[in-house]
Amino acid sequence: MQDQSARIKIAVQKSGRLTEHSMDLLSRCGLSYSRGRDQLICYGENMPIDVLLVRDDDIPRLVQEDVCDLGIVGINVTEEARLDFAANGVANLFERVNELDFGHCRLSFGIPASVEFQDARSLEGLRIATSYPRIVEDYLRRKNVNASVVEFSGAVEIAPSLGKADLICDLVSSGGTMRAHQLEEVETILESRAALIQTPVKLAEEKATWVQRLLQRVEGVQQVRESKYIMLHAPRSALDSIRALLPGSEAPTIMPLDGRDDIVAMHAVCRENIFWETLEDLKDAGASSILVLPVEKMLA
Ligand code: PRP
Ligand code: ZN
Repeated sequence: MQDQSARIKIAVQKSGRLTEHSMDLLSRCGLSYSRGRDQLICYGENMPIDVLLVRDDDIPRLVQEDVCDLGIVGINVTEEARLDFAANGVANLFERVNELDFGHCRLSFGIPASVEFQDARSLEGLRIATSYPRIVEDYLRRKNVNASVVEFSGAVEIAPSLGKADLICDLVSSGGTMRAHQLEEVETILESRAALIQTPVKLAEEKATWVQRLLQRVEGVQQVRESKYIMLHAPRSALDSIRALLPGSEAPTIMPLDGRDDIVAMHAVCRENIFWETLEDLKDAGASSILVLPVEKMLA
């Protein structure tokens, strides 16, 4: 019988904007898993890692209380939880280990046509509907504005038309939801994306080793997503200007071409995406036979 406490538990949003990206990230880190019958736990088959699918709002507490070792959750949720824990005198917080490259969104005020907004002072005396009361209260406190915060657990965008609030503060990604409810996005109070959080409790040695390994792979996955391997031919005399055009490339490899003294081959890893414009600039600088390849895995 395997020791269950030696397995790492990662909390991931059950269904929502982060779910697919989170599971995809773990797969790219090499985790293969089978889904439990209740669909709420994914059991890792090739690593001692299990994934718990839960409500995103529960993730900070699960990690905080060491029910899970790691969690993948939006900064909007960790910020709200951090302020809430602080307000309740909880000291030993989860740790944010890594920002991830997905789940980008923002927390913004949205106003109906009846409300006028210049800056934070325009909010004086108004009622704001939100699912993020702590973040909004914190903002109002910093801006020295008196407004009342009406907590909604969902469907915040209908609060003004129901007469329950004058405006809302909610997550915006494409902007479609606010537009569909005739709300104008006027000010952003928090930029958010997915983040990896870790329990404040010290991990046993074997677990710590696996967490370390996983974090390193997460790093690697994020790097290769943007990275490209580029190969080209170039006149020796143009090497400096060509190198200057390649975003985030360190120490390219220069190789002689058979029978040519004036032209060499250059290979380089670029840590940023390479766009058509860059290729055109490279060609203008004298490069030819340019080939751009995706990078599959990377370990620094
Ligand atoms: C947010 C927000 C809006 C929607 C905005 O909810 O409450 O409903 O996304 O996105 P859009 O600008 O692309 O239309 P989310 O799906 O994150 O669910 P949750 O906050 O209830 O977990
Ligand atoms: Zn939620």
